[in-house]
Amino acid sequence: MVSYKELGLVNTREMFKKAMAGKYAIPAYNFNNMEQLQAIIIACVESKSPVILQVSSGARKYANQTMLRYMAQGAVQMGREMGVNIPITLHLDHGDTFELCVSCIETGFSSVMIDGSAHTYDDNIALTKKVVEYAHARDISVEGELGVLAGIEDEVKHEASNYTKPEQVEDFVSRTGVDSLAISIGTSHGAYKFKVKPGEQPPPLRFDILAEVERRIPGFPIVLHGASSVVPEYVALINKYGGKLEGAVGVPEDQLRRAAASAVCKINIDSDGRLAMTAKIREVLATSPKEFDPRKYLGPARTELIALMKHKNEKVLGSAGKA
Ligand code: G3H
Ligand code: 13P
Ligand code: ZN
Repeated sequence: MVSYKELGLVNTREMFKKAMAGKYAIPAYNFNNMEQLQAIIIACVESKSPVILQVSSGARKYANQTMLRYMAQGAVQMGREMGVNIPITLHLDHGDTFELCVSCIETGFSSVMIDGSAHTYDDNIALTKKVVEYAHARDISVEGELGVLAGIEDEVKHEASNYTKPEQVEDFVSRTGVDSLAISIGTSHGAYKFKVKPGEQPPPLRFDILAEVERRIPGFPIVLHGASSVVPEYVALINKYGGKLEGAVGVPEDQLRRAAASAVCKINIDSDGRLAMTAKIREVLATSPKEFDPRKYLGPARTELIALMKHKNEKVLGSAGKA
């Protein structure tokens, strides 16, 4: 068993306490490869933001869990060498079994999500509580989930959004002992979050549900999944250079700003980074057809990711300057 503390990582407890008091949200960025991880560290060090590095089940299959852990260890060292010590958490995104959470904890993760939202309420509680007991004995933080996001949650497909029922949150939080709670208020994963006609605004998130959750568990850290804005400039660039992303729509940034100022302490962003990378890679390959050095297209993709994440930290989540 490797302790995350030896790797220079932290759990989310202190981060969330400060984010709650300061009315901002910690960015949780997913990574699967070196360029994404470098971009996250550079963007967060340059904007002096705490950060949560997220590893999904898909990322584990793609890049190997042990490889990702060593990459995170390297990222901590790289950040230190840049001269600013930012708090960094290594977090399992959408863990679906107790065994997976244990495996990540033993590998050196400092935080895990146990997503029991596909189970019945009682089974979700039993599974989440079991993970919390194991994790807390090792000073690891745990995120639970109540309510189901529309779209694709990792490999679990859900047809419709099943908003969090505020009347369940006190019971869930007290019976499981989780450190934070992901809720469903209208966001969804991926690049197609809302079906709207061209030029139409997507429907607002259910801030009424969020307010009722806050009233019932005041000061408790809330997590927003599926929070990419699906930046229209990237969608346009992808389509300009041969892509076919029709009707891709995300959460408007003003709504994320509002969420970040509430009890929402963690905002998950993956799709925006995927779009930024793909847009730049498509642009380079289309405009420089003779290019075949991966650094010549992955480099600009990484530069764009850095700009995107600095923008999120500085102008949307409010986490810049809080490290
Ligand atoms: O929650 C979903 C994340 O965007 C991760 O997705 O399983 O394709 O890596 P993934
Ligand atoms: P997006 O697909 O909106 O980026 O959401 C990512 C996420 O919630 C990861 O858990
Ligand atoms: Zn998610």
